[in-house]
Amino acid sequence: MALLTICDQNRTLSDKREIREYLSKFGIDYECWPTTERVAPGAPPQEILEAYATEIEKLKAAGGYVTADVIDVTPDTPGLAEMLANFDKEHWHDEDEVRFIISGRGLFHIHSHSDGVVAIEVTAGDLIRVPRGTYHWFNLCDEHRIRAIRLFQEKSGWTPHYTETYVDRDYLPVCFGAPPQG
Ligand SMILES: [Fe+2]
Repeated sequence: MALLTICDQNRTLSDKREIREYLSKFGIDYECWPTTERVAPGAPPQEILEAYATEIEKLKAAGGYVTADVIDVTPDTPGLAEMLANFDKEHWHDEDEVRFIISGRGLFHIHSHSDGVVAIEVTAGDLIRVPRGTYHWFNLCDEHRIRAIRLFQEKSGWTPHYTETYVDRDYLPVCFGAPPQG
């Protein structure tokens, strides 16, 4: 379950309804999907995609996404540091960033116009859709572990455009929730 921190107000939300309402102000969708009761988190990617086919098709129809895949990141992923360095600086994309977390966790920072920087820690069961053009950056939590479904409008569009404001340096990428078990 996600934790949302409005950094400049030192305020944290943990109730999923409050998180959903708060994020909707910025056009960000947040949903909670079933987890282990639907499919084993370690199942092969195709099984994962089939298990969430209904939700994925609904998102595709609503957002124009054409493909979905499963990304798996562990501390042993080759080139992990370089991969993470692409996304831990403030950037935006030409298409939405849509992630459903199957296991592990990570931390999105969203730079909103009205409320400053908002940190959202996402864990298993969290679906987040960050609209195109939203300033944000992403870090993994200390375990360096995340498995997630990604949806794309077109793969070529999902390239980071860096703002080069370096605002990300003012916020420690600290996760607050308990590390997931297993
Ligand atoms: Fe991004």
